[in-house]
Amino acid sequence: RAKRPAGAPDKKLAKPVTKVGIVGAGLMASQFATLFVRRLQVPVVITDLDQARVDKGLAYVYDEIDKLHGKGRIGDDERNRLKALVHGTTDRTEFADCDWVIEAVFEELGVKQEVFASIEKIVSPEAVLATNTSGLSIEAMASVLEHPERLVGFHFFNPVAVMPLIEVVRTAETDDATLATAMATARALKKTAVITKATPGFVVNRILAKVLGEAMHAVDTGTSFEVVDHALDRIGLPMTPFELLELVGLKVGAHVLDTHHAAFPDRFFESTNLHELAQYGKILERDSKGRVKGYDKKALKIVSG
Ligand code: 3HC
Repeated sequence: RAKRPAGAPDKKLAKPVTKVGIVGAGLMASQFATLFVRRLQVPVVITDLDQARVDKGLAYVYDEIDKLHGKGRIGDDERNRLKALVHGTTDRTEFADCDWVIEAVFEELGVKQEVFASIEKIVSPEAVLATNTSGLSIEAMASVLEHPERLVGFHFFNPVAVMPLIEVVRTAETDDATLATAMATARALKKTAVITKATPGFVVNRILAKVLGEAMHAVDTGTSFEVVDHALDRIGLPMTPFELLELVGLKVGAHVLDTHHAAFPDRFFESTNLHELAQYGKILERDSKGRVKGYDKKALKIVSG
């Protein structure tokens, strides 16, 4: 018999997920919508503040569904059914009958608190609320809820379709039914779930921030992007540190490093250049197909001062 993952409650406590709400329609949220609809085969609602963002998110989801169809992973009927199950709106009241709502909005505590406080007024008291935060305090988010026991961290990795792991983050208040529902949902999404404590960076980002933070610190102190990338060429990473920073997003990367520096100033560097690079938007130079060709000239100028 398969062993229950460390810290996991009884599976029988899991509540069914029959409709999914996703707050945000950015890249991460759109990737969630694609995964949830494909794996759970239930209605999925994505919301954002304006219709243009919602439309962009929906277009991404439809495109990903078409790609799955193009690769022969789903047939004509399933393609049409999945597209019909995904709906986009600016009206959060459509979450009223969702039993699982996950947010993937901007990494700012006040924004996430506003989202949860407003959503709790709409959904039923039974609904599970999940956050994809990569570094903010989930306990601080729970503090705005009337039912903090139904909030859980559900932290995905980029690219969502491919990366196998979800960190399920339990706060001191998360109850067993919420945790069991999160574990069952991760299983239904065909991901591996680990339960982590609500500490800064959980487990994976704590380790990644060390690698990426050291790589950035080397650049901040005068080593070139190229030397850092090549130095790590042969240790088996699927991407170089700067490709990975671009994949997660330079702004998200800067935020993760800041969070770690604030929590553990003696263990994590504060990057002097990453914020400026994030503002600019890129480090790597790529060709029209997205293949890496070298380092962007302005990015090189930013780090050389
Ligand atoms: N979206 C959807 N699918 C994608 C994708 C994307 N952005 N990028 C790649 N894929 C798919 C491809 O379509 C392909 O699927 P297929 O087998 O169905 O054709 C499959 O992934 C493999 O892609 P490729 O063959 O093109 O490329 P690789 O073999 O080099 O794999 C990779 C690409 C999986 C992205 C690999 O480079 C990798 O593992 N990189 C490291 C990623 C990583 O560490 N992510 C964690 C970041 S930290 C984070 O997200 C946390 C946050 O809080 C900061």
